[in-house]
Amino acid sequence: IQNNNILITGGAGFIGSSLANKLLPNNKVTVIDDLSMGDFSNLNSSSNLIKIKGSVTDKDLLEKVFDENDFDYIFHLAAVASVADSVARPYETHQVNFDSTMAILEILRKNKKSIKRFIFSSSAAVYGDEPTLPKQEESIIRPLTPYAVDKFASERMVMVYNNLYKIPASATRFFNVYGPNQNPNSPYSGFISILVDRLKNQKPLTIFGDGEQARDFVYIDDVLQALLLIATSDQSLGQVYNVGTGIKTTLNDLIRFSQSNLGKVVDVKYAEPREGDIKLSISNIQKLKKIGYNPKYNLESGMKKYLDYEF
Ligand code: UD1
Repeated sequence: IQNNNILITGGAGFIGSSLANKLLPNNKVTVIDDLSMGDFSNLNSSSNLIKIKGSVTDKDLLEKVFDENDFDYIFHLAAVASVADSVARPYETHQVNFDSTMAILEILRKNKKSIKRFIFSSSAAVYGDEPTLPKQEESIIRPLTPYAVDKFASERMVMVYNNLYKIPASATRFFNVYGPNQNPNSPYSGFISILVDRLKNQKPLTIFGDGEQARDFVYIDDVLQALLLIATSDQSLGQVYNVGTGIKTTLNDLIRFSQSNLGKVVDVKYAEPREGDIKLSISNIQKLKKIGYNPKYNLESGMKKYLDYEF
């Protein structure tokens, strides 16, 4: 993507800022972020960058941003990313995770905005606990939490606007993304970011459950590759894609791996599992591979790159 005008909601957050930094040298990038988890310091300084502190639930702000710009690409990455947080605050997270999507879609429809692509970040959480693995895009959807319901509802609404109102759109179902600049400072942060933080600061880590729950951990660079392919492919129009690696890793595997690779012992405490937590989540990525996706990192090389950056 070059010489385009790009909006990234959640652009100061983990995935958003990584994407913005990749696009900034050759594009104009506008970032909206409420800084609840993100930080503008994640972004490289550039004359191509416009930073807006505000919420995607603020319709007046969205109207103003769209009045002032004709975007080519919109990456809607702003969200309350934590499943557990949605269990604790279902209504507040619904406003961020669903209403914001609807608000942007409505502006695009009403103002007859001509864009190249709207990319919505959905989640592997939509599959829930239905036991068939690995998850394909056509697998049974059984959301277990407000987060998963909102992601699925948003994703479907995006596809409806694509089909009915010709708003060109695609969606990603992210599996568990990790890498530098993922904020570890909330109890609701991503597991790997918390693990790396505890290794660094020699503090105890709590595992909710027996640690045998498994995820498909995908390194941020591969996620950026996927996002750019999905945004620019003709074939991906109106389509939803799993973004993962297809590799299964348990939390206990991660603890063992980090200790053997760093020689640092992290003090692990086990607690009751979190409500709504998924036991097994692994992707089938054949559909994404058909548009050219070729993930470059496994857990070992991804963690090495992340840890080299952190230590
Ligand atoms: C994660 C993402 C979510 C994404 C989904 C896709 C985050 C915060 N969540 O959800 O946005 O849509 O993947 O699959 O990035 N755990 C502990 N101790 C901790 C923290 C977590 O044991 O201190 C456990 C959780 O109970 C869970 C596992 O680690 O079993 C992963 O949790 P988390 O990193 O929050 O990710 P998901 O819920 O899979």
